[in-house]
Amino acid sequence: MTANPGTRASSHSHMWLVGLLGLAAGLALLIYVPTLPAVSGVVLAFAGFHLAGAVVSLASLYVLTNGKVLGRYRRVQGSGFDFGWVPAWTYGPWIAALISVAAAMALQIVAPLWWPLAMAFLLLAAAFFAGGLVTHASGRYEAAVLPMVDLLARPESRVLDGGCGAGRTTVALGRACSGARIVALDRFDSDYIEGGGRRLLERNLQLAGLSSRVEIAQGDLTALPFPDLAFDATVSAHAIDHLGPQAATALREMRRVLKPGGRFLLIVWVPGWTMFAVANVLSFFLAPPRAWRAMAADAGFAIVDEGRFNGNWFAVLQKPDV
Ligand SMILES: C[S@@+](CC[C@H](N)C(=O)[O-])C[C@H]1O[C@@H](n2cnc3c(N)ncnc32)[C@H](O)[C@@H]1O
Repeated sequence: MTANPGTRASSHSHMWLVGLLGLAAGLALLIYVPTLPAVSGVVLAFAGFHLAGAVVSLASLYVLTNGKVLGRYRRVQGSGFDFGWVPAWTYGPWIAALISVAAAMALQIVAPLWWPLAMAFLLLAAAFFAGGLVTHASGRYEAAVLPMVDLLARPESRVLDGGCGAGRTTVALGRACSGARIVALDRFDSDYIEGGGRRLLERNLQLAGLSSRVEIAQGDLTALPFPDLAFDATVSAHAIDHLGPQAATALREMRRVLKPGGRFLLIVWVPGWTMFAVANVLSFFLAPPRAWRAMAADAGFAIVDEGRFNGNWFAVLQKPDV
């Protein structure tokens, strides 16, 4: 089985590294690069690198402190939902893009013969910029689309949303399955969702008019706090791919709590252009669809449908009828 990145809920915690590296790079642009003879001799470049360094340093400080030092800029969408993604997640790639552009320019000025490397930095900057667009958009309600699949055998089913976070998928599920009763489960301890997500989940459910149909449960995907056969259907989006080697346990847990014939909609990140833009080389460590297919089969599921949307891979898995 291919390894998944991260082993626990806070697997995006490497994002603090982006902030720290950004701060170091920003200070280098601000203090060191302008002292290089080739740069200091050109007034525009001298001033430009000071400016770029200041912007990168301040933005990195913002990311590092989750917006606490420079104040929080949170664009609540027209829908009013707030899924709580912290600044390190939403803005980190754009800082990396700025640094890459500055590095390309510095290299071009100081060592013009190294232009192929400068070009590579520019391409990297373009990839980071695209990654920033993706991570930024993930906070929007429109990004909460679910693939159109045949999930429920009957409308008034009981459905589990495992790893619900601040409720992006729960709200989408609640709207798509208007008769369903939903249980939204999470550990509510991730460091990339503000406050772990519980408070925002409650607020988002209220806003969506779903509070009476959704029950909130705190628990772990690898040891679900429900009896066997408790659900008609289950969903888990962008959560089981955070579990590393424990993903297989979570899949078995999903099967355990499903009734015979019940379906499980699994949505995970897989390697591809979208994920390359977001995670760069780290995206190569994501498990590909064939690894997920094998894991699902090992857990006792049959695959009834699968496909890709928005750079994600989804599968509709079914627990066999007995
Ligand atoms: C990227 S968020 C996805 C949230 C939501 N499904 C969505 O698509 O917006 C992943 C969520 O999985 C949760 N999570 C990760 N590992 C978990 C575990 N072992 N048990 C319960 N929740 C977990 C995290 O706390 C986080 O809220």
